[in-house]
Order: sequence, then C-alpha cells, then structure tokens
Amino acid sequence: MNHSVTPASLRLDPAPPAPDLRRINAHPDHWYPLAWSRELKRGGTLAVSFAGEPIVLVRPKDGPVFALEDRCAHRQVPLSKGTVDGCAVRCCYHGWAYEASGRCIDVPYLRDRLPNGVKAYPCREVDGLILVFPGDPSLADAVPLPGLGSVANGRYKTRRFGRVVGCHYSFMHENLMDMNHQFMHSKQMGQMKPRVLGQGRGDGWVEVKYSFKRTGGKQPLGEAVIFGERRSGEQNTAERDVMTIRTEYPYQTLRIQTEGQDPVMDLWIVYVPLDRAQKTNRVFGLLSVRKPKVPGILNVVWPLLVAFTERIFREDREIVELEQRAFDEAGRDRNQEVFPVIRSLRSLLVACGVDSAEAARNGIAHVA
Ligand code: FES
Ligand SMILES: [Fe+2]
Repeated sequence: MNHSVTPASLRLDPAPPAPDLRRINAHPDHWYPLAWSRELKRGGTLAVSFAGEPIVLVRPKDGPVFALEDRCAHRQVPLSKGTVDGCAVRCCYHGWAYEASGRCIDVPYLRDRLPNGVKAYPCREVDGLILVFPGDPSLADAVPLPGLGSVANGRYKTRRFGRVVGCHYSFMHENLMDMNHQFMHSKQMGQMKPRVLGQGRGDGWVEVKYSFKRTGGKQPLGEAVIFGERRSGEQNTAERDVMTIRTEYPYQTLRIQTEGQDPVMDLWIVYVPLDRAQKTNRVFGLLSVRKPKVPGILNVVWPLLVAFTERIFREDREIVELEQRAFDEAGRDRNQEVFPVIRSLRSLLVACGVDSAEAARNGIAHVA
C-alpha cells in the first residue's frame, strides 16, 4: 500500500483565522444617531443605547440636548426615569442632579463634598437626528458629522424611516450594496438585471455603480415612482440611470441619477448596534426624493412610495434576520462570497471596525 506522506517541511501552517466579520464591532469613534428629534420632548428624557451602553438623552426646557450614561452614580438606576430640572436631570430615587457635563451638582441631603458624576457623551442635533459620539470624547470635535444626503435641500422631500432589525450591522451593509439581490425583489420591482459599471475603494470607503436592465414584466408603479416613468419607445427605462452605492464608514448612501443631473433619489442610512453582542441594530434612514416639475405630484404619490419602500424593506429585513440566524446556528461565518464588490466591502468593515475578541482580551470598554 502506498501511503503518501507530506514532508513536514512542505506542510503549510494553517493560516491564522481571519477575523470573523460578524464578530467585528462597530467602531465607537464616529457620530451615530441614537434617536429622532421628535422622540424627545422638551423637558423630557429618553433611554437609548449604543452597543449595550445605556445612554439617556435629555432635552432641557431651554438649551441643547445632552447625553449621559443612563446610570445614576449613586445606586445605578436609570437617569432616564428621572426628571428634567432646569438644565440638569434629577434622578428619581434620591434626587441627585447632573448637568450636561455629567457633573453631580446637587444631592438634596448633602451640602458639600458632592460625589463624582456620570459619563457624558458629545451630542449634537442635526436635521431631525440626535447624534451621539460613543467613543473617545476627546476625538469628537475632529470627527466630522455625517452629511445627510439631500435632507437639507428644499428641492427634495425626505422620508425618515427606521426600524429595529435583528442582525449584525454588516448584513445590512452587504444587503444594500449587493444589487444582485434584486432577484428577491422581483415581485416588487419587476425583473431587473443589474450591471456593474465600476467600483472603487479608498480610505474608509467602498463604492459601486450599477445600471439596470429590465428583462421582463411590466414596469411596476413603485419603480416608476423611484426611477421615473418609462419614456415612450424606451425599452429599458432604468438603464439611463446610474445607481451609486457607497459605504463611507460607518454610513451608507444610495443615489440614483442621470449623468449631469441632481439625483432623483438620495438615501442616507446607518445601522446602529443596540446590544452588546451587536446582533440587533436600529436603522436610521433618510430617503430624499427630488420634487418633480409639477408641484404637489410627489405628495400625491407619496403614500404609494411609502408602501412600496415598506414592502421592499420587509423583504430585506426578513432575509438579513435569516442570515443572522444561520450564523448563530453555525457559530461562525460560513459565507462563500463571490462578488468582488462585497468582498471589498467586507474587508473595509473588518478594517474599520473593532475585533470583539481582541477588544475583550484588551479589556477595552464598549466592545467587550
Ligand atoms: S439612585 Fe439616583 S439618587 Fe439615589
Ligand atoms: Fe433589498
């Protein structure tokens, strides 16, 4: 019998295991929306979280919103259960009060030697979003706030949408960037064949451009709203439009435009991890649609557009949650990714994020 034995010198050492993308945590040194402005009333508090860190947002009667660790320094109960008192938040239990810097400014039964306060987070409010910087606060001023697409442009109407989705944020990035999954949406979108026009990668970003070719079926109303109506005699309506999808860490954008014109649709979106294991994320999306020449028509079709996008998002949500479930059952990422754009995206998310295993070893906060 001929046993072939590989000499030890020829045996390859197993490659070190690549970091598992689904265990890469979102990097905390960025601005993340943690609530919509409308969720926080004047003189109110709101409990939110980033990757398992409880945070209270406080809106004083006068003055800007601020964000603190949602644990009283005394007995650790949530400050979000307390009340707003002037420019401070007062704990519901024994009445300790904290100002925006996190300093404890009053203990009703103590005159001096006030105790230490709580952690404060840099916080800004922009275009209906309350943004918090959960990482190293000394870096916050140097990190730019996200550009929010066309939300501030009066020539666009914006839909603000969001939901909690039970998956790691990386599945969301992959889902939006990989337009080959139009296959799943064919009931909503008709049969559309994406064509990659080009891709790019730079420092902190990955981008892909697509055009679409209709391969059959009638143009659905939803598509007409987003891509524009088929011009007479034009077989492949959407082909004239270019869709650009970009992950600019940690945000994602999707624009549809005809060369030389402003986008007809401009989406800005981010997926904020809620729990410590980062298996649940809250979506904050701003979908801006350019107002057509006939004023008011967009308002008429708006409910249709909302219903259409809801159906699409429902399909996406179901599938990414199934992906998460498959990951949990396997205990590791077994994906065989074949699409270069997504391979590039995955390496970007690994490079920009924080390896949870390594962070746990080093005892880094936020990411253990
Ligand atoms: S627990 Fe907050 S004041 Fe005592
Ligand atoms: Fe989708």
